[in-house]
Formats: sequence, structure tokens, C-alpha cells
Amino acid sequence: MKDSIFDLTGKTVMVTGGGTGLGRHFAEVMAAAGARVIVCARRVEKLTETVSAIEAAGGQAVAQAMDVTSEDSVREAFAAAVGDSVVDVVVNNAGVVAKPSLLDTDVETWDNVQAANLKGPWLVAREAVRRLAAAEKPGRVVNISSILGSAVQKGTGPYSASKAALLHLTRNMAVEWARYGVTVNAIAPGYYVTDLAGEFLESPKGKALLARIPQRRLGVYDDLSGAILLLASDASAYMTGTCITVDGGLSLPIV
Ligand SMILES: NC(=O)c1ccc[n+]([C@@H]2O[C@H](COP(=O)([O-])OP(=O)(O)OC[C@H]3O[C@@H](n4cnc5c(N)ncnc54)[C@H](OP(=O)(O)O)[C@@H]3O)[C@@H](O)[C@H]2O)c1
Repeated sequence: MKDSIFDLTGKTVMVTGGGTGLGRHFAEVMAAAGARVIVCARRVEKLTETVSAIEAAGGQAVAQAMDVTSEDSVREAFAAAVGDSVVDVVVNNAGVVAKPSLLDTDVETWDNVQAANLKGPWLVAREAVRRLAAAEKPGRVVNISSILGSAVQKGTGPYSASKAALLHLTRNMAVEWARYGVTVNAIAPGYYVTDLAGEFLESPKGKALLARIPQRRLGVYDDLSGAILLLASDASAYMTGTCITVDGGLSLPIV
């Protein structure tokens, strides 16, 4: 990886939700590319497992407790992890899903989903970019959205709305932060077996969905490795405000 345009040696990378699922994979891939990775979430024991795996593979990582929905927690986590210094790459991966139909969704559930999936990425990116701008250093923000940010599926209203808003926030961030040398892009994954999506994928509806994926398979974590390395590294220097869809063709408007 060294001397490659995807090399992350010398970069400090933060991955929210880095203790499980896709976030743990993103952390491992970027550590293997040379980054020092800070994994953040509420469950420190899960973060510690990610750190152990990265260290066992010869990489550098630290675990940092953070609740992305809390401004104070985000500020304190940055201070604890990097002091007055900067995070070069932020991957806003933390997210939650809610099952009820729109008629059955209560206000608390709605607020929790928007707080984790939309306010959280803004709080984390804002803290990172304030520091980068003050230090006059360039950076990268990668927001993990979903194909449900543009496609519609019954029973995912609050989640889909948060992911659609995150895509638009990505464009706003890209335009406002270009002047600081910060690029902001998104990834829209299709379906991957994780704690968040596993139950749905095991259900009859989930199994039926498999038949509609042109590549006839769910995503495996490595399918996302190229997209995260591209958007985190110098290879994407002239990309900003875009979204890379990694879904085996599921979201194509097929006639
Ligand atoms: N799996 C899929 O098929 C799929 C498809 C499209 C998009 N995505 C997106 O991919 C991202 C990762 O999801 P996943 O599938 O890997 O599920 P996951 O394993 O459940 O990961 C979600 C992570 O977010 C963290 N998190 C949730 N709320 C948080 C908060 N308030 N503060 C800090 N961390 C928080 C959780 O850690 P703690 O509970 O320890 O805080 C957890 O590690 C999500 O944004 C999801 O929407 C997934």
C-alpha cells in the first residue's frame, strides 16, 4: 500500500460505530492502509475488540467512548483522543434503525433515529472541520448513508428520511468546506449482514429481496473496501459532494 495513492500512512482516522459491523471493517481496512485509527461508540468493550484485531494485524488503533448524539460527548472524545490536534479523516458510520411503520412510530423513536443518523454526523464532522480549518490542514469526511437514502421501503420511514437527509447534508458540507481543503462524500451500501440489518435479512421479506439483487447475493464487507479507501485517501482529491453506491445493482431503476 505504501507509495500508492490509497496509502493512509501518517493519517489519523476516526470511525464512529467502529466496534461492530461495517464500522469495524472500515477501521481495519484503513489501519491496514497505514492510518492510526480512533474507533468511537458507546460500547467500549466492542471498540476494544476492534483495537485488538487491528493491533494483532500490526496496525495502530485506540478506542474512544463517544455518543454521537451528544455535543459534549463529541467534544470530549476529540479532546481525549487527539488533544489540540486534528483528525484527518472522519468516517460517520454510527447509525441506528427503527422498525415501526410511520403510523406506529412514536416521537421518541423518530428523534432517536434522527439524532444518531443525522445530527451525529454533523456534530462529529463539525468538530473535525473546525479543528482542521484552525490548523489550516486538509481533510476528508465520509458519511455512511444507505440505498434507502434514495429508494423507498415500507417500514423504514424514519431511517430512510435520516439517510436521505445525510446525503443532502453531504452536499452542503462539500460546498461549505471546500474552501478548507476538506472533501465530503458518502457511501450508500446495499444490504450486508450486521447487527443492524441481520434480522431483516433473515425474514421472509429479506430473503425475497435477495432475488431482486442483480448480482444475486448480499454484500460482503470487503465489497466496501475499495470505496472507503478511495474516499479516505488522496485518490479522491477532486471528488466532493458525491455518493458511491455499493449494492450489487439493487437500486438500479430496472425496466
Ligand atoms: N448493514 C447494512 O446492510 C447497511 C446498509 C446500508 C447502510 N448501513 C449503515 O452502515 C452503518 C453501520 O451499520 P451496521 O450495519 O454495521 O450496524 P451495526 O453493527 O449495528 O453498527 C452500528 C454502530 O453504530 C454505533 N452507534 C449507534 N448509535 C450510536 C451513538 N449514539 N453514538 C455512537 N455510536 C453509535 C453502534 O455502537 P454502540 O451501540 O456501541 O454505540 C454500532 O457499533 C450505519 O450507519 C447503517 O445505517 C448498513
